[in-house]
Amino acid sequence: MPGPGEVLVSIETYSPNRGEAFLLESPRPGWRPGKDVAGTVAATGPDVTWPEVGTRVVAHPESGGWAERVVVPVSRLAVLPDDIDMVVAAALPLAGLTALRLLKVCGPLAGKTVLITGASGGVGHYLVELAASQGAILTVVVGTPERGRRLRELGAADIVHDVTATVGPFDVVIESVGGDVLPQAWARLAGRGLLVWLGQASREPVTLDFFDWSGAESGTLRKFSYADSDSGEGDDLATLVRLVHTGRLHPEIGDVRPWSDTCAALADLVARKVRGNLVLKIDPGAPEPAAVPDEP
Ligand SMILES: NC(=O)c1ccc[n+]([C@@H]2O[C@H](COP(=O)([O-])OP(=O)(O)OC[C@H]3O[C@@H](n4cnc5c(N)ncnc54)[C@H](OP(=O)(O)O)[C@@H]3O)[C@@H](O)[C@H]2O)c1
Repeated sequence: MPGPGEVLVSIETYSPNRGEAFLLESPRPGWRPGKDVAGTVAATGPDVTWPEVGTRVVAHPESGGWAERVVVPVSRLAVLPDDIDMVVAAALPLAGLTALRLLKVCGPLAGKTVLITGASGGVGHYLVELAASQGAILTVVVGTPERGRRLRELGAADIVHDVTATVGPFDVVIESVGGDVLPQAWARLAGRGLLVWLGQASREPVTLDFFDWSGAESGTLRKFSYADSDSGEGDDLATLVRLVHTGRLHPEIGDVRPWSDTCAALADLVARKVRGNLVLKIDPGAPEPAAVPDEP
């Protein structure tokens, strides 16, 4: 049951992220997956006056969200207007918070050239729409034309399938693939530009040669974690909800399935078959999902 400052959320939908699927390979003791959920407040902690039981919410628990119920601190949720569907809401937290906080780190982007690698996932779709609405001139890297289709509609000016197909220089690079891609992207950074490094989707480590002068003479390399933020999860979730509610942010839901399909859905997520976000729906009448294998 919820303690002080917490509510119990009865979950309707949750959204697994690819990074969480990898964590299943060697889970920490006591850890349970699940950070992105949408549902209804079922019970409140002793001191909680908001939100009330029955309120529709989107939430970002630290863990445990691939379930029918989860306890969440009030500081990690936002209230959902009736016109935001639970499927759409579940896709918001991790990917949306990451995109929003990346933009804060990048600073004003109006008129700047921006390169985004690994752009076909959940983070990439939010990032492209939010950066384009600021006036950034966006080049995105995706695996196939189909995986880039929606990004064009959301505001990407140029879509390529390999970083080496870009010319640059770019004022800002947002890099999440690692391996050879980071040094290739670094070589396309404009002088005194900013490269924000947020992930290693390829799972290949990065080697950078300081004495490779093929790129800019100087630049900033910033390692990014969405958890390092001056703003709280609840406030930023409320911003994302407001953007969706007012038609300025359009979550890209690549796949929606019943939660009994969790294992197959995770396999597709890992295999790069899902564009945008994967969302699973809890059907109270359906059997619980089979145990997730150690290596999805
Ligand atoms: N630092 C943070 O706080 C933070 C927070 C959230 C996420 N992340 C990271 O940010 C990245 C984006 O997250 P996400 O959830 O949107 O993405 P995701 O589903 O992991 O997608 C990443 C994209 O990278 C592309 N990619 C390119 N080369 C790849 C390769 N060799 N292996 C696998 N994928 C490759 C894939 O696109 P194509 O198939 O189209 O090539 C894939 O859609 C991930 O690396 C994630 O771990 C970091």
